[in-house]
Amino acid sequence: MNREDFPLLTQDIIYLDNSATSLKPKSVIEAMNDYYTNYSANAHRGDYDLSFKVDQAYENTREIVKNFINAKSLEEIVFTSGATEGLNWIVKGFFENLLEAGDEVLITTSEHASNVLPWFNLVKKIGIVVNYIPLDDNYYVTMDNVKKAITSRTKVISIAGVTNVIGDARPIKEITKYAHVNNIFVVLDGAQMVPHMKTDVQDLDIDFLAFSAHKMCGPTGVGVLYGKKELLGHLEPINLGGGMNESFDSPDETYYKPLPTRLEAGTQNIAGVIGLAEAIKYIENIGYDKIGEQEHSLRKYLIDKLIHIPYIDVINIESDSGIVAFNVDKVFSQDVAYYLNKYNICVRAGNHCAKILKSSVGVTNTVRVSLYFYNTFEEIDNLVELLSDYDKIVKEMI
Ligand code: ALA
Repeated sequence: MNREDFPLLTQDIIYLDNSATSLKPKSVIEAMNDYYTNYSANAHRGDYDLSFKVDQAYENTREIVKNFINAKSLEEIVFTSGATEGLNWIVKGFFENLLEAGDEVLITTSEHASNVLPWFNLVKKIGIVVNYIPLDDNYYVTMDNVKKAITSRTKVISIAGVTNVIGDARPIKEITKYAHVNNIFVVLDGAQMVPHMKTDVQDLDIDFLAFSAHKMCGPTGVGVLYGKKELLGHLEPINLGGGMNESFDSPDETYYKPLPTRLEAGTQNIAGVIGLAEAIKYIENIGYDKIGEQEHSLRKYLIDKLIHIPYIDVINIESDSGIVAFNVDKVFSQDVAYYLNKYNICVRAGNHCAKILKSSVGVTNTVRVSLYFYNTFEEIDNLVELLSDYDKIVKEMI
């Protein structure tokens, strides 16, 4: 669906690595090109028309993002370099000042490195404790397990909406409801969720959210940090410098601007922000219903075929997204990826930055197919045909 919008798809390539990054439609590329070609001034710094035009485009994106995730106010939307930066700022800029030794943060073993390592850093720095919500037999998070994992010292639940290897969607709304009754903050890693399903921050009632543009048809190097205004106001800026300060005469007389500017030091990724606006318009134009429908049909089609190949072990037969992780018996996952690459099929192999997942799943590396709405049944047929010949895989894998 919509394949004609993606210039890369004119090449002889089957792109099945959308969880790593999605392809970019023409409208996004053209909007960024237009900025660089026709009005590439800085934002919030110039008193001339060209710069006003940039200010307008930049702030217009903030409005588009606010509506996209249904935030209450523009001050709750901060542009970052991506989900990783957003999560790091939330942990360093907010929770490092709030948490004390012995306070507990709940994550899961299927979190991405960006939602694990910043917390591990606080273990070393201030002595917090990181605990894990146990996963069920399908590697899902259940409310029962969330409730069991909470103790009187639990202060934060930091969790992906959809995980990048198992592809399970978590019951975020129920988690948040239960967490808030128990005075626990909820941080949502939206990197694999926002591109694929509607994320309404008020409905979910999450405290913080981070996501990237590049996994949702937008450019690399730009993302969004959302925080409830009353919390975001206490997030200490990690980057200090131009644009975010009101005035400074001496260390004791330094004043920062209000939200959201105080968290956007230095010249921002203006072209990226402009591209993000187009990416959101593009996704909204298609609609999440259609995106989800296509991903689920493709996924089901693929799983139904893979489970009949005796030497293929699908790790996540049950999942809520377009992510399918599997292994070929006695073949290293990267060798499978290398073999598929010979036929111009792009998949990801390895641990996918979810390095502690092996403790739950018992599998360190997998081949991961991650689908998006522009993938086709024919592409899956091609993939399955190549995976259906074990001797060929072994012969051609290196
Ligand atoms: N986090 C991205 C992935 O899962 C890069 O591939």
